[in-house]
Amino acid sequence: MELQGKVALVTGGTRGIGRAIAEAFVAEGASVVVNGRSEAKGEQALREMNAGDRVHFLAGDVKSREGCEALVKGTVARYGKIDILVNNAGGATGHAPVVDLEDWALEDSLKWNLWSTFWCTQYALRDMLPRQWGRIINISSVEGKHGKPGVSIYVMAKHAINGFTKSCAQEIGTQGVTINCICPGAIETDIMKDEGPAAAQAMGLTYQGLLDWFASEAAIKRLNTVEEVAVVATLLASEAGGGMTGTMYSVDGGTAAY
Ligand SMILES: NC(=O)c1ccc[n+]([C@@H]2O[C@H](COP(=O)([O-])OP(=O)(O)OC[C@H]3O[C@@H](n4cnc5c(N)ncnc54)[C@H](OP(=O)(O)O)[C@@H]3O)[C@@H](O)[C@H]2O)c1
Repeated sequence: MELQGKVALVTGGTRGIGRAIAEAFVAEGASVVVNGRSEAKGEQALREMNAGDRVHFLAGDVKSREGCEALVKGTVARYGKIDILVNNAGGATGHAPVVDLEDWALEDSLKWNLWSTFWCTQYALRDMLPRQWGRIINISSVEGKHGKPGVSIYVMAKHAINGFTKSCAQEIGTQGVTINCICPGAIETDIMKDEGPAAAQAMGLTYQGLLDWFASEAAIKRLNTVEEVAVVATLLASEAGGGMTGTMYSVDGGTAAY
C-alpha cells in the first residue's frame, strides 16, 4: 500500500492509460478523482472500479483554464487536498502534413496536451507547495522524443510538455514536489482507434500499417499495454519516487533509446 492516505487527480481517468493508472493508485490505497468529458463514461468507470468512497468522478474538459481549475479545486473540495496529479488527458485531431496543416488543429492540440498540463500543474502546486509534498506525472509520448511525419501537431505538443517538466522540476526540486513525464509507446486505446486511421492516412499508411510500424520500431516488437504505464506511474507517485524528478521515463518497449 504505497499510496495509503494519498489523494490523486487523474485527468482523462475514465478510460485507457488514465483509467489503468487510477486503478493502480486505488489498489495502493489512494483516493482518486477520475475525470473525463462524458458523464456516461464517468458512471461506467465508477461502476467498474467499484472502489466506493475512494473513487470520485468529476466531469470537465481540460482544454480551458477554468476547466482545469475546477478539477483541481473539486479534488481538494472532495478529499481535502491533492497529493498526486496525473496530467493524462491529451490527444490531437486534424492531422495533416505541415504544408496543409490548419491553425485550429495545432491550437487544439496545444490546449489539449500542453496548456492543460500547465494549468492543472499551476493549480495543484498552489496546494502542494505549502504542504511541501507532491507528485506530478505528465503523460507525454514516444512522440515527445521522436519526430514522425504527418502528426507534427502532436509531436510539438508532447515535446513541449517535456521541456515544461524539466524546467518546472528545477524550480520546485527542494520543496518536496517532483514532476516527471512518462513517454508511452503505442497502445491500442480508444484514442488510437478514433484518431489512428486519420493519422495513418496523413503518413500515407493504413491503420494496421501504422500499428505494425509502431511495433516494428520497438525492441519488443509489439505495442505496449496500459498496465505497463500504470506501474511506472505508481513508482513515481510513491514516497520511494522522491529522488526522481525532471525526467522522461520511456515505457515504449525500447523504441527511444534515450
Ligand atoms: N494510446 C497511445 O498509443 C498513447 C501513446 C503515448 C501517449 N499517449 C497519451 O496518453 C494519454 C491518454 O491516452 P489514451 O490512449 O489512454 O486515451 P483514451 O483511451 O482515448 O482515453 C482518454 C481519456 O481521456 C478523457 N479525455 C479526452 N479528452 C479530454 C478532455 N479534453 N478533457 C478531459 N478528459 C478528456 C476521455 O474521456 P472523455 O472522452 O469522456 O473526455 C478518457 O477518459 C494522452 O495524453 C495520449 O496522448 C497515448
